[in-house]
Amino acid sequence: MTERALEGRRVLLGVTGGIAAYKTPELVRQLVERGADVQVVMTPAARQFVAPLALQVVSRRTVVSDLFARSEGAEVRHIAMAREADLALIAPATANLLGKLAHGIADDPVTTVFLAVTAPTLIAPAMNDEMWRHPAVAAAVERLEEWRYRFVGPEEGFLAEGYAGVGRMSEPETIAATLAAMPYSTIARAGGGAPGDLDGVRVLITAGPTREHLDPVRFLSNPSSGRMGYALAAEAAARGARVTLVSGPAEISAPAGVELVRVTSAEEMLAASQRAFATADVFIAAAAVADFRPARRFDHKQKKATLDPHLELEPTPDILETLARDKGERFVVGFAAETENVIASAHDKLLRKHADLVVANDVGMPDIGFAAEENQVSIVAPDGSVIELDRAAKRTVAGGVWDAIVTTRKA
Ligand code: PMT
Repeated sequence: MTERALEGRRVLLGVTGGIAAYKTPELVRQLVERGADVQVVMTPAARQFVAPLALQVVSRRTVVSDLFARSEGAEVRHIAMAREADLALIAPATANLLGKLAHGIADDPVTTVFLAVTAPTLIAPAMNDEMWRHPAVAAAVERLEEWRYRFVGPEEGFLAEGYAGVGRMSEPETIAATLAAMPYSTIARAGGGAPGDLDGVRVLITAGPTREHLDPVRFLSNPSSGRMGYALAAEAAARGARVTLVSGPAEISAPAGVELVRVTSAEEMLAASQRAFATADVFIAAAAVADFRPARRFDHKQKKATLDPHLELEPTPDILETLARDKGERFVVGFAAETENVIASAHDKLLRKHADLVVANDVGMPDIGFAAEENQVSIVAPDGSVIELDRAAKRTVAGGVWDAIVTTRKA
């Protein structure tokens, strides 16, 4: 049984016109078996080698081969398809496709959609061996690799021309397994975007609130939505990091390419974080961990009449302080939710909790911080210096926090 490593992932598959296109129904089957939801887009030339209906049956989705066909809704179809993809794959990729993608030419459904794709993209070339060795094709591949496209194959084997050479598309199983194991790194964009400056860095992030139960229906908690921590995780993954996100109860799904571990209490968050911390390079504590929990927890719902109105509390473990005490070479970032003396209190927390940076959050300001769409933070360093970030969407703030981490780690 194949591991369902693509569970819940939306995979966009571009099929171009080469003989190897006849293998794509099996490729789609392999992807679906790994849990992927596959959307196929194909060129008119590809239709000569594989029937759209075959791909439609295995993917259980309408195959797109004409971008001008009428569709429901007003959204521009190729942009919507590109945006919805968590992962993208072109198989087979002809010399024609490589040349066009490397030069920004969009004159068929596949190139038009893929020029708008930012999700990590894998390319499985297939062509005649002399075509593969042509300097124009080699230059296109080099250029695409610079922009963080990844390649699988082509392999040596018997070609359609009747002799052996390098140019065969990799087998569907190899392509599906490569896609499932591919590091998460988005496609480059002119003028910035995700720079891939966290390629291979292992990151642990805590997010959301914790719930400290008195009984199955009553608990102590706080209004954290998890948005800030999830934004930090999504940004790190987009820059190439391998991210484990340990999250308290939050109504947000896992960002693409992020391993999500769901927990409820501070005790569980500590245990899950300790496991991921062992192999982490960077740890960010963005969670709003409840500081206290009921000293006694009941397994059954307590009757109101018998409950003592005075709740006895005990402290929860301090996850940041516990982990950072033995951080070794790891880079540790804390958050500080404050309502007064924000910078001084954040600096004090940095020293007490052995952090390398602290992100100070003035949670007394309206419409930022807890449960808000936006945030405004100051990043405090051990020497007392402060980087002020403008008020912005949490994903933008996450970008600023990661910029500060990357710069400080290098220094
Ligand atoms: O989740 P959102 O709705 O997006 O809101 C974001 C946020 C406001 C929750 C976030 O930006 C934030 O400020 N998180 C930290 C909140 C907090 O608990 O701050 P603190 O000052 O009480 O804790 C200081 C640091 O110690 C934090 O890094 C915290 O994660 C950590 N801590 C605290 C207590 C504890 N028992 N264990 C911890 O690890």
